[in-house]
This record gives sequence, C-alpha cells and structure tokens, in this order.
Amino acid sequence: MIIEATGKSAHSVTIKRLMKFFLDSANLAELKDAASWGIVDGVTTNPSLIAKEGFPVQEQVRKICDIIDGDVSAEVVSLVAPEMIVEGRRLAAIHKNIVVKVPLIPEGIKAVAAFVKEGIRTNVTLCFSAAQALVAAKAGAYIVSPFVGRVDDIGWPGIEMIDDIMTIYRNYDYKTQVLAASVRGPLSVIQAAKAGAHIVTLPYKVMQQMFHHPLTEKGLEQFLSDHRKVFDLVNA
Ligand code: G3P
Repeated sequence: MIIEATGKSAHSVTIKRLMKFFLDSANLAELKDAASWGIVDGVTTNPSLIAKEGFPVQEQVRKICDIIDGDVSAEVVSLVAPEMIVEGRRLAAIHKNIVVKVPLIPEGIKAVAAFVKEGIRTNVTLCFSAAQALVAAKAGAYIVSPFVGRVDDIGWPGIEMIDDIMTIYRNYDYKTQVLAASVRGPLSVIQAAKAGAHIVTLPYKVMQQMFHHPLTEKGLEQFLSDHRKVFDLVNA
C-alpha cells in the first residue's frame, strides 16, 4: 500500500493502492534489462530459478539486491521448521530487502510464526487454495504466493483462487499481501489486477510481452513514414 499525502492537512491524505510488478527471475542479465524499464518493484526467486543460474542462493540474491532496490524473495530448502529458521535467518542477514520464502506446509507455517517474532518478513509460497492463503494470513505472512498458472495447467480457473483470497482478506484486516505467481502471460496479469492482487510476479518474457501490441508497432511505423515523406525531403 503506497500512501500519498495530498493537500495541506493530514485529513486530506489519499491512500493509493498501486499494483507492484516483481520479476520472477534469478538471471542477472534479465534483471538488469528489466530494471532499466523503471517498472520493477521487486524480485521473486525459487530453488528452480536459482539452480538455473548455477550459483549458491546467498551469492545470487546478494547480486540481485544490488540490481533491484525492492523486496527480493529467497527460498529455504529445508523441510523442518528449526532448519528453515536457521536457513531463513542466514538469508535475511544478506540484505534488508530479503524476504524469506517458505513453502505452505505445516513446518513452513511454524517457521513463519518464529520469523514474525524476529521481524523477518516471509513470502509463503506454493499456495494453491484460499484455505491455504487463510492459514498464511493467520500466521502473519508478509506475502502469500498463489500459483495461478499451475492451477490453470490442470484445467482449473487459477484466477478464481485469487478472487476468493482477495474476498476473504477484504472481510478482515489481514496485512498479508497477495502476490499472483506462476503467471503465463499478460492476460493473467490483467486478471490478477482486476482481482486486486497487491503484487504480480512476471517471468522476463511475460514482462516483455506487456509492452507489445501490433497496432502500436504499426502506428509508430506509419507516423515515422509520414514524417519522413515531408521532412526528409525538406532536409535532403
Ligand atoms: O515464483 C513462482 C513461480 O516461479 C512459479 O512459476 O511457471 O514454475 O509455475 P512456474
């Protein structure tokens, strides 16, 4: 939630919700290019994305924090709470922007409770139902990541999960942010925005797709062609 003050008195403070775009990547070249667009608010990684780059998570997320000044999710790979807590503390110590990602399993929820007490922010991931998202909010998760695309992949409407979660969260004062993850294309982004998701995390390719429309490219070509016909002749 971004709060912008308007007018002279505190009574005229306007609270604006602005959708945040995160890049779902651990690839430094993708991150550097996307950072240049000025629309990236944070980064999500997971063990598969880290493995693709081939460097230990601590080393890779440290570099990522130097590229994007926003929340950077780094995921634990332990499966029991005590080990998740030790691993998560190490990740959180890398940089103030690190958000510790834990899987939405009982041991992960136990770890969230410990992290909340220590002021370590968490992103509870691999969420596939509103019931799970309710558990994450009750545990005090900073972010919950429902995987829209993987629900779509098995023939269920993934966006309905986001709708249900937002409806439930709006009924109460949960502070957990809904981060639409596992996004397959611009349509998923639009649907997540219509549902009111706080954040959407986009693969680099999808973020590139957000810019493109054939009519924009066609229109620009026509503008420049018309301009050349007149002014290039004049300058020739
Ligand atoms: O951050 C979660 C996301 O990386 C998962 O996406 O495409 O593997 O379902 P996907």
